Amino acid sequence: MANTMTHPSLLFLALLLLFFNSSVAAVMKFNVISYGAKADGTTDSTKAFLAAWSQACASTIPASIYVPKGRFLLRNVDFRGQCKNTAISIRIDGTLVAPVDYRVIGNVDNWLSFENVDGVSIYGGKLDGKGTGLWACKNSGKSCPSGATSLSISNSKNIVIMGLTSLNSQMFHIVINGCRNVKMQGVKVSAPGNSPNTDGIHVQLSSSVTILNSRIQTGDDCISIGPGATNLWMENIACGPGHGISIGSLGKDQNEAGVQNVTVKTATFIGTQNGVRIKSWARPSNGFASNIVFQHVVMKNVQNPIVIDQNYCPGNKNCPDQVSGVKVSDVTYQDIHGTSATEVAVKFDCSSKHPCTGIRLEEVKLTYKNEAAQASCSHAGGTVSGLVQPTSCL
Ligand SMILES: *[C@@H]1O[C@H](CO)[C@@H](O)[C@H](O)[C@H]1NC(C)=O
Repeated sequence: MANTMTHPSLLFLALLLLFFNSSVAAVMKFNVISYGAKADGTTDSTKAFLAAWSQACASTIPASIYVPKGRFLLRNVDFRGQCKNTAISIRIDGTLVAPVDYRVIGNVDNWLSFENVDGVSIYGGKLDGKGTGLWACKNSGKSCPSGATSLSISNSKNIVIMGLTSLNSQMFHIVINGCRNVKMQGVKVSAPGNSPNTDGIHVQLSSSVTILNSRIQTGDDCISIGPGATNLWMENIACGPGHGISIGSLGKDQNEAGVQNVTVKTATFIGTQNGVRIKSWARPSNGFASNIVFQHVVMKNVQNPIVIDQNYCPGNKNCPDQVSGVKVSDVTYQDIHGTSATEVAVKFDCSSKHPCTGIRLEEVKLTYKNEAAQASCSHAGGTVSGLVQPTSCL
């Protein structure tokens, strides 16, 4: 053994490793203050953030952007790749604030957008989307901008979002679109229960996304899962107010990527419109949702705790044959208990053309006003095991 260690090529390898390790440890640091950002909440710091980003992105060694305490006013910012390194961390001790006048960012898709990046981690930070003005406009029935998503990550991979708080987004809070390997942990989303279209986290066309230990209070879906989401894991999620965790709406388009291998494990829904939902348009489509697991879920006063709705057609418009082409299969509901705010706690309203198959109910107990709730099924098939209340209609 001693002899092999002194072999010249091994010695070279050891030196190489040493060099490699020390270069990995080195990090280029960029403080947004050095680029002119002001923590006063009123000075536009957009240029400073972009300047720090372009330096970090151009660094050939790992880079770190630091945002200190205080409030930083930002217009819409596009953090674009490709970058010269695959390890950019952004540490935020402060709050990023959107313009109070919703028109400034209301017509762009995203307030803060990361696109085409690999290896970006965001630690901490608060995003204050200042959505109240836009919601008031929308609720007044006037014509208003559709609003910006607060944080969008698109066409990217190897992303970490840890300990981020998103407040009062104009539209969606966080969108993951076209990404691979995204880890979100300890995310907090907060907006009033009546704020329009403020989905908490939306995931689509993405694989290997995990959302852990996150608390979402908002006016639309806590988590919405769009076409092309695969290998999605959600664990320890608290939702409410909000519209629950929703797979869909799927099947809006004829040609659509399916949703596959989605797990929700350990979740609490408090006073939400839905608990766990799968929803598809009553339109022709080749979309599908399969291998879905909902387990260890507590419902408190939830209007529709378990629901599959394949007859979505708002205003009964643009649904030519009023039947969904989306195939829903292998959906497991395991250890789900609590209270329903309506009599029908379990509703499987599936497509007459493509009935739901492989629905499994196991240890489900939902009550309505301290009594057994009801279940309603159409075109739904599957199996039941263990105690299931309301009595299954599969
Ligand atoms: C399902 O997704 C999980 C991650 O959420 C992954 O670990 C697992 O390998 C996937 N299963 C299949 C069959 O792809």
